[in-house]
Amino acid sequence: MAVTYQAASPQRFNAFWALETKCHPQPWSESNLYSCLMKPYWGELMLQDGKPVGFYLFQQVLDELTLVNICVDPAQQGNGLGGQLLTQALAQAQQRQAAVCFLEVRASNAAAIGLYQKTGFNQDSLRKGYYPGANGGREDAVLMSLQLPSG
Ligand SMILES: CC(C)(COP(=O)(O)OP(=O)(O)OC[C@H]1O[C@@H](n2cnc3c(N)ncnc32)[C@H](O)[C@@H]1OP(=O)(O)O)[C@@H](O)C(=O)NCCC(=O)NCCS
Repeated sequence: MAVTYQAASPQRFNAFWALETKCHPQPWSESNLYSCLMKPYWGELMLQDGKPVGFYLFQQVLDELTLVNICVDPAQQGNGLGGQLLTQALAQAQQRQAAVCFLEVRASNAAAIGLYQKTGFNQDSLRKGYYPGANGGREDAVLMSLQLPSG
């Protein structure tokens, strides 16, 4: 199946929003997502045979990137698309002269942590009780980073 990518932009908000609400149990607000479709954020929508199936978004400050969002349509998860999407994201990051990529992820998000570890991210630290958790509790954030080869 043919995979293509389209640059994130406010004009493509609807496709990003449809995925955001499908993929995340606690999706961002519309305004938060909208503001991440323009500078200093950038990213891409992933399409499979022309149908949006995932996206990633980075925030870039000089040569430092933060991966603020990555997701794949739940109907398509577990088929390698997340790995393909993150590889594409990091290749684009290298083209933009990024030197390091940071991210934070819920400690319970085994799929995402597995994906990041497989791609080479290392755990730097834990931020205790950072996220609102289930039943009014709190959940730790795992902070990870990856040094990007200069390219
Ligand atoms: C994280 C996410 C993008 C992974 O996408 P995916 O298409 O399912 O990932 P892939 O099929 O490419 O799997 C890549 C690797 O991730 C890991 N992984 C994927 N699903 C996993 C699971 N349920 N448990 C543990 N590891 C898992 C594995 O290391 C896997 O490699 P392997 O298949 O060689 O074992 C997807 O689960 C998702 O969209 N989740 C909801 C949104 C989210 O939590 N985003 C991250 C925080 S912003």
